[in-house]
Order: sequence, then structure tokens, then C-alpha cells
Amino acid sequence: MASNLIDMDLEAVRKMDAHVVHPWESFGDTSNNKTIIGAGHGAYVYDAEGNRLLDGPGGMWCVNAGHGRKEIVTAMNEQAMRLSYTSPWSHPTEPAARLAERLASVAPGDLNNVFYATGGSTAVDSALRFVMFYNNVLGRDQKKHIISREDAYHGSTFLSAAVSGKSRDKNWLDTRLDTVHFISSPNPYRRPDGVTVDQFREKLVLELEDKILEVGANKVAAFIAEPILASGGVIVPPEGYHAACLEVCRRHNVVYISDEVVTGFGRLGHWYASEPVFDITPDIIISAKGLTSGYVPLAAMIISDRLIDEVSQSVEGGAVFSNGFTYSGHPVACAAALANMDVFESDGLLENARTLGPYMQSQLQSLADLPIVGDIRGRGLMGCLECVVSKESKQPLDLDYAVGSRIDKYCQQLGLLVRPLINMCVMSPPLCITTEQIDDMVKILREGISRTMDDLEREGVGRFS
Ligand SMILES: Cc1ncc(COP(=O)(O)O)c(C=O)c1O
Repeated sequence: MASNLIDMDLEAVRKMDAHVVHPWESFGDTSNNKTIIGAGHGAYVYDAEGNRLLDGPGGMWCVNAGHGRKEIVTAMNEQAMRLSYTSPWSHPTEPAARLAERLASVAPGDLNNVFYATGGSTAVDSALRFVMFYNNVLGRDQKKHIISREDAYHGSTFLSAAVSGKSRDKNWLDTRLDTVHFISSPNPYRRPDGVTVDQFREKLVLELEDKILEVGANKVAAFIAEPILASGGVIVPPEGYHAACLEVCRRHNVVYISDEVVTGFGRLGHWYASEPVFDITPDIIISAKGLTSGYVPLAAMIISDRLIDEVSQSVEGGAVFSNGFTYSGHPVACAAALANMDVFESDGLLENARTLGPYMQSQLQSLADLPIVGDIRGRGLMGCLECVVSKESKQPLDLDYAVGSRIDKYCQQLGLLVRPLINMCVMSPPLCITTEQIDDMVKILREGISRTMDDLEREGVGRFS
């Protein structure tokens, strides 16, 4: 029983944790009341007091195979004993080579070339650098501009943050690059009044083409897009959007980068969602998170033969892509990823996600009667509830009301972890989740949201009944 593994002095850990600068740290906020997690098993984690919590966010959209898989841990252990590290500059290793071949076999089209990075951000950064390199080698030294979208999240290196479009994240940071341009978020819920979803898609696609023409097709190098915008609030673009955007990119010789850090590795029921779900074969796919189910950091950028061939044939004697990391293709991480893929196959996790994804979506939809819930959206095993002042105005409840965090707090008391995102709650559970666990998740969400509505009414924020 995983909770038996927890043996910690909670207060001591809290005190020591004051030394940790967490991601998105709010300096000056001394509340330090986050739940300390001590263990995990399957779709559950256990807090420091041994309380069991259904892992609604799957860690950070990453614990796809579930917690505590012995096969993955054993593979890491055996690899570390055999060879813990060797330089990826100088020496190929078996796990890195085997994983690259296996990733190429599950990636669409001619995406057969794997560059390893340490996480999603460094993989995105590497992809953008690769596109610049590619154009330099081909003698197109003007073709450097990148088009991204509002609400996109691509990472926290300077370059990956520069192509991220979540405006609140830019409040205190310098992320502006004159070579980065943003087009509208493809969020059907927030489309202009009187516009159908089909018309909205056409407008978005036209906007991409207009932006390419405005900057100059000779200057636009890449379009980067998450198939479903994850941290932006699980935004599912209108049907046909990606295929139409790819067509525009092809017309103007713009590289299409599909950021599948979240949508890959089973979240939508497939190794990669680009082709089977969205009907596109991009030029580059970014993969991270579920690649190792979060057991250890690893990411991959998978590049098409077409791009690699063009580069290879352009410079006599070769062109060096001077980009890499000490831990590129780390043997222990690659061994974890291979064992993770074995677990996916032995447990039928892709099939489970394909079956239970629609079930989770339909169960989440049952919360639509709650007055505070404006939109429920998602696909596969990723979903989002957006809370609003009223269903008619669709005005989001802003950060001051911390509605996502309040729902999370109540849900934790009832046995469910939620990922709060300002006025939204995000769900991306491990792919081993069962129908009963989904039922529990939705039941607890209903109660957590109801309690939050009562609080907000008491505080005079609105009337939700
Ligand atoms: C779509 C997407 N791309 C890139 C990243 C960055 O990945 P990492 O945090 O592993 O650097 C994330 C992280 O959430 C993401 O959701």
C-alpha cells in the first residue's frame, strides 16, 4: 500500500521547502500551504498524511502510465547499473538508439530523425533553432520569423517563452522577440458573437495566411502549434483547422511544428495525435512528458527526412547543428521511455484512452447544469471546466476570486487533485484510469464546484443559483 511508504516530518519538509524556488513562484506570498505528496500508485497519489487523492492532472499532464510502475523503475535501475552515462557527442548508446528507432516507427510520415532534449522547453527551443539552422544552410538568411498563437504555451527557455502566448505569464518577464508574431487563439467558446464555428475556422486560417503575407513569405520560417492548447485551457480548435493551417504553411514554404508535449503519448489515444486525430503530417513533432510518464526527464524533437535531406545535401562536407545538451539521450531516461512504451503495449493504454476518453468527456458534460460552469471542453483524456460570472455574459471569473484554487482545495478534501488554472480546472488523469475512477472524479468535482459557488455567493461575487 503506497501510503505506508510515507514516513516524513511534514513540518520539517515544509520548512526546508522554503529554500525551493518553485515554477511560477509568487515572491512575497508566504502562505506556503501546498499539499506535499509523498507517494503514488496507479491513478492515485498520497499526501504526506497518507490521504489518497485521485491524480486528476496526472502530475503535470505527464504520469500517463500511472504511478509506481515497477517495470519502468527496474529498467532504469538496470540501465544505471550497466551504464549510467556516456557523452552523447561521442558515443551512441543502445537505449538511445533503440528508442529513436521506436519513436520513428510510431511517428507519422517521414518523421524519422530524433533529437533528444531534457524537457519540452528545450525540445521546442531546439526545434526553433533547427529551423533557423535549416534556413541558414539553405541560404535563406531572411527566413527567421515564427508565428504562434495567443493562449499557446511552449515552455520556459527564452525562445520557447517568446513563442508562448499566455499574456499573464508575460507580466513581469521580458519575452518579446521582434521575429515572433501571434495570431488569434482558436478557442470556439470565445469566438465573436454571430460567427459560426465553421466561419471562425475560416477566419483563423485566413489570419494565418494574412500574417505570413504581411511579414513576407520569404521571412516566415515556422508555424508552431499545440494540436490542443493545453495550459491555455484545453482549447480544442474547430474541426479541420490544423489541416487547413498545414496547407497554408505548405503553400508558403513554412515549417509546421506540432508541439505534442501534452497531446502525445496516449493523451488522445494515440502515440501522436497529429495524424490520426488532426489529419496532419507536420515537419517536426515535439514530444516530452508522457514519453517517460514523468519517471525521469526526457524529450524528443522528431524531424522529417525531407528537412534533414535538404540540409544534408546543401553543404559540401556537412553543416554542424551546434545544439545539444549534456543529457541528450541520457541512457537511463531512454531506458525508462522504452519500458514506458512496453507498459503502454502490455496494458493497452492507448486503447483505454480511446475508450475512456469519450466517457470522461461525456461525464464532464454532466456538470453543465452548474450555473458557474460556462464551458466544458476537451478531447480524449484531457478536459477543462471554465468558470464564468454568468453563462450569458461568458465573462471569466478573474484571478482575484481564485476560483480554480478553491475548487481544487475542496476537491482535495474529498479525494481528488485538480489542476487549477485561474478560472479553470483541468483534468488529464493517468491513462490507466477506470470508469469508476472517472465517476468519482466527476462526483467530487460537482461537490467541489458547488461548495465554491456557495462561498462566492456568500462573499457577494455573484448569484449562482
Ligand atoms: C505544449 C507544451 N509544450 C512545452 C512545454 C514545456 O515542457 P517542459 O515543462 O517539460 O519544459 C509544456 C509544458 O507544460 C507544454 O504543455
